[in-house]
Amino acid sequence: LVASMEQVDETYIMVKPDGVQRGLVGEIISRFEKKGFKLTALKLFQCPKELAEEHYKDLKAKPFFPGLIDYITSGPVVCMAWEGVGVVASARKLIGSTNPLNAEPGTIRGDLAVQTGRLGPSYYPDRNVVHGSDSPENGKREIGGTAYALCLVM
Ligand code: TYD
Repeated sequence: LVASMEQVDETYIMVKPDGVQRGLVGEIISRFEKKGFKLTALKLFQCPKELAEEHYKDLKAKPFFPGLIDYITSGPVVCMAWEGVGVVASARKLIGSTNPLNAEPGTIRGDLAVQTGRLGPSYYPDRNVVHGSDSPENGKREIGGTAYALCLVM
């Protein structure tokens, strides 16, 4: 953990469709800027289904997977790469817990998200406004291999 905090990493941050629709893009960017991280790429992007499935491939077996893919492809997302020392772990802290109802005040999800879709008999994805890579390896994968690479090429 200490070693990774001293290393310059890159993380993939994505404002999800609910964050874009609710006009939270500037607020979210601002939090990463104020923390001192460096924005190295950004694009508004309509994520194709195949790419969304690749991005979330680790969750393929989960009951909420189809709903998650519908949600993430339901409108434009803002794809970003952010660079800095310990940025992956730090961004996860700034973002807060996966379920917005559990996220601490002061975090992006704690302050800006409320809706979890688990009210009916079936599973719905949590609308939690933003994604952040969960490890430096996944940061590299997500930036280099999937969403970000396609974003720049298109
Ligand atoms: P996950 O990678 O576990 O969380 P995080 O986004 O905090 O890294 O899950 C990816 C997304 O899947 C999450 O942002 C919202 C959705 N999700 C659900 O809809 N229901 C669930 O029970 C979980 C764990 C995730």
